[in-house]
This record gives sequence, structure tokens and C-alpha cells, in this order.
Amino acid sequence: MMKQLWTVAILSLLLLAGCSSHAADKKEALDGETLYGNKCSACHGGNLKGAVGPPILNMSSKYSEDELFKMITEGSDKMPGHLLTDEESRVVTKWLMEKK
Ligand code: HEC
Repeated sequence: MMKQLWTVAILSLLLLAGCSSHAADKKEALDGETLYGNKCSACHGGNLKGAVGPPILNMSSKYSEDELFKMITEGSDKMPGHLLTDEESRVVTKWLMEKK
């Protein structure tokens, strides 16, 4: 009887661990900093201070959140648009609005 209980306990722990690590993966993919690092830092630098592209610190003093979202989703003549899904762009926009 004791042995069976242990098996059940261990199995449920394994299941729980499996689920939560899956959730963590998903969360990481929608983390502003990670998305920026994957898709934007090559042009704007790891520290947002610019490289090929201009520095993008203090964007909240230049754009509203909606304007920034539009810039990030649509790009411009010089910046490619549609690098991220709309949902990812929202996350990066919110993250970027807080960078000074
Ligand atoms: C291929 C290089 C490149 C990539 C990749 C890139 N950008 Fe840009 N970005 C630029 C350039 C060049 C400009 C200047 C555009 C202009 O002046 O029209 C710019 C402009 C911007 C601006 C406006 C800056 C300002 O002062 O008006 C923001 C915000 C921005 N990028 C955010 C991002 C984000 C977020 C990503 C990732 C999803 C990204 N960029 C990816 C090259 C890039």
C-alpha cells in the first residue's frame, strides 16, 4: 500500500514538473527582453544604444504606446517591419516604453 502511494506521488510530481516547465518556455518566448534580443538587438544594440539602427532609449518621450507599436509592427523605409507577431510586438512595445 505504501509503495503504491509513493508511485502515485512521484508520478504526479513528474506530471507537474512537465507542465510547469512547458509553461515557462512559453512565457520566455513572450518576454520583451528575449524578443528584443532575438529580433532587434542586431540593429539597435544589446543596450538599446544603437548600432546599424538608431538608439531606441526613451521612446516613451517620443511616441505614444500606439505609435511605437505601429513603428515596431510596420517598420519604416529603413527598418524592416513584421519581424514579430502582433502579440509579440505588444510585449516588446510595453517593455520598450519603460526603458529610459
Ligand atoms: C535591419 C535592422 C533593424 C532591425 C532588425 C530592427 N530595426 Fe528598428 N530601426 C532600424 C532603423 C534603420 C531605424 C530608423 C528608421 C527610420 O529612421 O526610418 C529603426 C527605427 C526604430 C524605432 C524608431 C526610433 C526613433 O527614434 O524613431 C524603433 C522604436 C525601433 N526601430 C524598434 C525596433 C524593434 C523593437 C525591433 C525588433 C522587433 C527593431 N527595431 C528591429 C533598423 C532595424
